[in-house]
Amino acid sequence: MTLLKIAQMGHPILLAEALPVDAPDSEDMACLVRDMIETMEDARGVGLAAPQVYRSARLIVAKRADLGELIEEVPPLVLINPQFEVLEKDLERDLEGCLSIPGLRGVVPRYRKIGYSGLDQNGKRVEGEATGLFSRIIQHEIDHLDGVLYPCRLVDWSDLGCERESAHLLRR
Ligand code: NI
Repeated sequence: MTLLKIAQMGHPILLAEALPVDAPDSEDMACLVRDMIETMEDARGVGLAAPQVYRSARLIVAKRADLGELIEEVPPLVLINPQFEVLEKDLERDLEGCLSIPGLRGVVPRYRKIGYSGLDQNGKRVEGEATGLFSRIIQHEIDHLDGVLYPCRLVDWSDLGCERESAHLLRR
């Protein structure tokens, strides 16, 4: 396994639409999935999308969470060519960060509950429902596949701040 370099905001790959994956069960994909999970864990992230490691591929990994707490015992969700549908239209505002935008946090509205689907690295169909933090992580990572970074989702620039001061952001 290898730690991958993480693209930082400003690199064009983060603004481009990623290419669909033709061979989800290839050795290349399996290797990329392993490296992305290791890279995400090493960087203490909660999700990672392939364009963030300079690969134009519709692939995300996302830590699982329930009731706002990360679930560490279960392997992260791997979704190739992912899609989601909105199950509850209510938007929840909460803090987000991104490994491609170090040092900053923003308050971003996301759908509270979604249904997700895609393929895993064995080519098997994966589907499920996600609420709260898990739903937020999946929406953030799928945004990366469409070249959207979370600052583009801010309702107001004053919802963006430095990590050290981020506790103030939600209170406004
Ligand atoms: Ni991100």
